[in-house]
Parts: sequence; C-alpha cells; structure tokens
Amino acid sequence: MTIASDDIRQLIRLDTGEIDRRIFVDEEIFELEMREIFGRAWLFLCHETQIPKPGDFFEATMGRDNVLVVRQRDRSIKAFLNTCTHRGNAVCRAEEGNTRNFMCTYHGWTFDLAGDLVGVPGMETYYGNRLDKSKHGLKKVSQLDSYKGFVFATFDPTAPPLEEFLGATGRLSIDLLAERADEMEVIPGVQKFIVDCNWKLPTDNIPDWYHPQITHMSAVSSDVLPGLRVQEEIVDGGGAKTPDGQRIEQLPQGRFTVTDCVTVLGEYGHYIGGPRNGPRDEATPRPWRTRPGFVEAVGPVGMEANGHPSIFPHLWIVTSSGQVSVRIPRAANKTEIWWWGFRPKNASDEEKAMLLAHQTHVFGPAGILEQEDGENWAQGTMHSYGEHSSQIPHLLKMNIGHGQVIHEHGLARIESALNEHPQLWQYASWQAWISGASWDELLRRTTPGDRM
Ligand code: FES
Ligand SMILES: [Fe+2]
Repeated sequence: MTIASDDIRQLIRLDTGEIDRRIFVDEEIFELEMREIFGRAWLFLCHETQIPKPGDFFEATMGRDNVLVVRQRDRSIKAFLNTCTHRGNAVCRAEEGNTRNFMCTYHGWTFDLAGDLVGVPGMETYYGNRLDKSKHGLKKVSQLDSYKGFVFATFDPTAPPLEEFLGATGRLSIDLLAERADEMEVIPGVQKFIVDCNWKLPTDNIPDWYHPQITHMSAVSSDVLPGLRVQEEIVDGGGAKTPDGQRIEQLPQGRFTVTDCVTVLGEYGHYIGGPRNGPRDEATPRPWRTRPGFVEAVGPVGMEANGHPSIFPHLWIVTSSGQVSVRIPRAANKTEIWWWGFRPKNASDEEKAMLLAHQTHVFGPAGILEQEDGENWAQGTMHSYGEHSSQIPHLLKMNIGHGQVIHEHGLARIESALNEHPQLWQYASWQAWISGASWDELLRRTTPGDRM
C-alpha cells in the first residue's frame, strides 16, 4: 500500500503523538516534499560575507536544484539555476569563487553575472543569428532577500516577503547568532557530507534534549569536549567523570532539571526548542549574552530560551557553537548535511583558532557529536522500511496535551519540563505544507494556538 492512498492527516496524529514511519522512506511523500515544501519555502542559501566582492559566487541548493548565488557589480545579489539552458550541463563546476562570467564547458555558451546569455559560439555560422539570446538566460529564483546577512530565496513568486515568512520566531533565531558581535562573518569553507537518512530525522533531532545523556556519552567520556562534559554533568548527573575524577553519580542530581525548558513556536513551522538559560550557561559562559545590542535584539524571550532554533524546513542555527547547518534532502534515505561556522569579524587570531577548533570538533564530518547523532538517524531510516517495523509509529508523547502556550512579547512559548512539542510542531507544520495549503491557509494552520 502506498502513502498516496492514505489520508495525509492520518500520517501525523497530534492527539496521540504518533507519526507514521513511512514518511521517512516513502518515495511519493518525498516527491510531495520536493514540490510543496522545497519548491515553495524560503530556503537559506548562504551568508553575505561569503560573497563580499562583485563576481563572488557560492553554489547553494534549493531542493534538488543547484543555484549560483552571485554578487553583482552594483553589489546586489542574484541567484539562478546552475544548469545550462542549452543542454543542461552545469555552467559552473566550482562550489565557490570569483568570476567575470559563467562559460559552460560543453559547447561554450556564456552567461554574465546576472545569468543573462551573452555569448553563443557559432551564432552566425550555425544559428544564422536567429537564436534569441534574451530567451535563454539562466533561470532566476522568483524572490531573493536577506535578513541580517542571511540570504534566502524562493521559487514561489506568491510567497510572502522573507521577514513575514521568518516571523518573530525565525527572526529571533537569526538574531541569536547575528547579534553576538557588531559583525559576524562566515569562516571560509563549508563542510559537506552525506548521511544515509531521511532529512526529517536530523531536523527532528534539533530540539531533542532527551538524547545527549545517552547518545553523546562517548563524546563526554572521551574528554574531547570538556565544555560538553560540564553541560552533561549538569543536564543529567549520570555516567561521566567530573574534572577531579569523581563519578558523576556522586554529584547532586538534576541541577539542570527537566522542568526547565522554554519552547518557542512560530508560524510556518519554525521553533526554538530546549533548555531555559540557567546553570548550564554559568558552566559555559557566553559573553555575548551581556552585549547591549544582543540583549535589545533578542528581548526577554530570547534571553531565556536557550534551546536550538530551527527555521522550517531545514535550517538549524546552533547558538552555542556559532554554526548553522542545512539538511538537504537528496533522496528519501539520503541527506546531505552542510555546516557553516561563524565568528566575530573583530575576533583575535587566538579566538578565531579556538572557535574553529571547537566547531570542527562538535559538528560536521569530523564532529564527534554529529557522528554519534548520524548513527541514530541512519538506523531510524533503515528500520522504517521493514514490512512490520514500518507499522510501528514514531513516538512524540512527552507532555502531550499539557503544553500551555503563553502569548507574550509577540511570541508563543511553552514553559514546561523537557518535552517533544517542537518536534510535534515540526510535523504538524510539515503536514500542512505537504497537503498543498495556500499561503493563507498555511499561515492559519501554523499559527500557534493555546495548548498542544
Ligand atoms: S550544454 Fe551548455 S553550451 Fe551546450
Ligand atoms: Fe545530538
């Protein structure tokens, strides 16, 4: 039986917290996602500091399409498909760089920085000058805009403006990183790798603060990440050793208790999920949190909500390490993961080196946390294929029905114990998206209510 014969509503049971596992492996669902989600949503492409000079470009993805994001001579930014309008070859094989134009290496058609076709070999001899070059430029995205240096685009001309799409929750998510210094910049080099998993399992993991105490125990006990070790001690009180060699069990339990989470729910499926700012932050100081610009930009909720922000559908902003990641669906069971690292532009050389070392040690292909996480996502995907295992629901039952939504400061938040509300919010929004809801309907269905 295929998913197409099911009512999409049955796939996500918000009342029981049961998610049909077939959404992780079904090919028809994957096609729906490409069309209804990745074909319409504003998607993160890159940060403006990656393409500062005219002619600078970065190759990004929008669903299964590759796009070139290019700084123009007038300093504006344009993005267009990296596929030649002659016979489909990529017009640029480099992932980033600087150029005066893009010449396809198949037959030599040449496009300028705006994607317009400016050169065709044999125009007179072979085409008799009858080819209308103005009709064969590279296909441009429908809308492109940036928020605090984060460049997004959509192929849907009817999509609401970017700031509206981000809403208060999406903007706060970016503010939490962008406002850490007067100017933040991307550390050169984006790390990319592939995990054999469905893209929704890594996004489902973004607000999951239930797993670190188990999944990341080897990272903690290896002592590679002393900062994390301190966090884990506070979070859980189980398993690892203290700096003076004491077993954790001897420490007071539950100093960072499960009663202390702040979940922010946003329109279109965005959220911030995880712990309230508290003892964990005393253990791992975050000096930018006292910066006046930061305090003002993020407001009272941003100062409290210290979890992981997610901008639907696939952007994760890691406020602790100053990184962002996209989880790019390549197939139902294949996800490409990209990592950008950020640093304050005026950081000292020593600070820059420390940041880079920390970021590459936690996430990305060499990141110990991500290697531990990736195993879970791949296993979860593989075991969603079985005739029998696919019948067992993916469960999100924590605190279900008891999440009181507080509408305050222009945001909707739930204050409760450790919970799975963000994941439920993600799947509820996903369901609205793949049902092909109009933008108005989508907004209505993803506007937080009073309880979940
Ligand atoms: S495919 Fe690009 S010039 Fe022919
Ligand atoms: Fe993890």
